[in-house]
Amino acid sequence: MIVGQLSDIHADGSAEALQRLDVVLGWLGPLRPDAVIVSGDLAESDHQRSYRAVRQRLENLGAPFFVVPGNMDDHGLMMEAFGDLYGWSSPRPLNVVGSLRDLRLIGLDVTVSGAHHGDARPVLDWLSRELNSDDPPALIFQHQHPFKTGIDGKDRNICFGGDELARVIENARSPVIALTCGHVHRPMFTRFAERPATMAPSVARANRLRLDGRESNISDPPGLLVHHWSEGRLVSHAVAVH
Ligand SMILES: [Fe+2]
Repeated sequence: MIVGQLSDIHADGSAEALQRLDVVLGWLGPLRPDAVIVSGDLAESDHQRSYRAVRQRLENLGAPFFVVPGNMDDHGLMMEAFGDLYGWSSPRPLNVVGSLRDLRLIGLDVTVSGAHHGDARPVLDWLSRELNSDDPPALIFQHQHPFKTGIDGKDRNICFGGDELARVIENARSPVIALTCGHVHRPMFTRFAERPATMAPSVARANRLRLDGRESNISDPPGLLVHHWSEGRLVSHAVAVH
């Protein structure tokens, strides 16, 4: 089972933003993913047209795809653009579940209206209901990171309610294999709720890696994660696309 994860497309009406998306999808196509997830910030302006352009490109790939909003997204317009696919009928929260053969993709809308940080607490009842079943193992994806990145200045925009989210994951009846997110525009690998936790690189421009007051230049091209789920083992591959 191959799941491609794109994040932070930030489509804005410019040709450049969509070109970066085309480059990433052009790389992903030959891998013939079983599904694609997009962990938020699909658009940052010109939302209506941007969502149409993003959806068209995802559809052209030919795999089922599942999206959650980020802090730059417009919930109302995102619901309009994608709601028929996921049964969305009100603009908050825009949660989504994708059921594949032996894996579930649970997209959690942790965004907070008008804020850059997230908060998992309002959607935890929904999540625990989803996880209180005998369904196949789940990969959770969301926009804001529930773990500290350590990057200077980025952790104030974390997903609040991380402890409560971890408790739901740890106590769930159906297993959660990992959690993955976006938002900081850098690939990252750590642990959360005693499980692997990843952050996908951005399709849009990367952020600078600045740790403990030290930093280097931005050199990252657009990228993605490829999650491979096989024989009960998840391996996440980070890919940069030049
Ligand atoms: Fe974001």
